[in-house]
Amino acid sequence: MAEFGVQAEKRRRNEGIVINDEWPGYSLDLFSYPAHYSGDLDCVIVPHGVIMDRTERLARNIMDDLGDHDIVVLCVLKGGYQFCADLVDRIKVLSCNSNQTIPMRVHFIRLKSYLNDQSTEDLHIVGADDLSFLAGKNVLIVEGIVGTGKTMETLLKHVEAFRPKMIKVAGLLVKRVQNRSTCVPDFVGFEIPNRFVVGYALDYNEYFRDLNHICVISESGKKKYKI
Ligand code: HPA
Ligand code: MG
Repeated sequence: MAEFGVQAEKRRRNEGIVINDEWPGYSLDLFSYPAHYSGDLDCVIVPHGVIMDRTERLARNIMDDLGDHDIVVLCVLKGGYQFCADLVDRIKVLSCNSNQTIPMRVHFIRLKSYLNDQSTEDLHIVGADDLSFLAGKNVLIVEGIVGTGKTMETLLKHVEAFRPKMIKVAGLLVKRVQNRSTCVPDFVGFEIPNRFVVGYALDYNEYFRDLNHICVISESGKKKYKI
């Protein structure tokens, strides 16, 4: 394959599995989920097993692209904790089963910008005051979901100021929203419709993190947990 062909192929495999707007999702009756959320969800949009399979492949792509240096993983809490834990786990397995090993350090930062299902202007970054240890390092930021990309843009600026050698972003979900910033993750799990999703550590006012699948919240679910 010509060089541009290889690059195009790499880009495609990292762009994510596209879930169309017309896709109605899977009926909740086809899966098990906590009974305390019955009536609070519309459908399953990405089942847990599919998340795990895609994560395994993303781990391999990340190894291929970053595998020759040690990495500082920056896990964006709280929504990114489950994806980060599973991704790091998959990278560890690949690392053990090959002679290409990557020493990894994992650091946690916390961002909060959502109230109910709306993004608020004020973004709080917690645990990121002194990231001077990132200087000269390869950094992998791990996010659960990227909406407009504005949060990611702010975070990238913040991290860049500490002069890492390289920054890559892995996002499990990217939403198809209007006014998307040009900032998109380098490694994407799934591109999803612009609907409010919960589960696999993604919350609505702190609820639903204890749900394994990624689901669309129902209108009654939003009402029930509104603050
Ligand atoms: N769900 C949970 N958190 C989010 C979402 C979402 O759809 N979009 C941005 N943050
Ligand atoms: Mg949240």
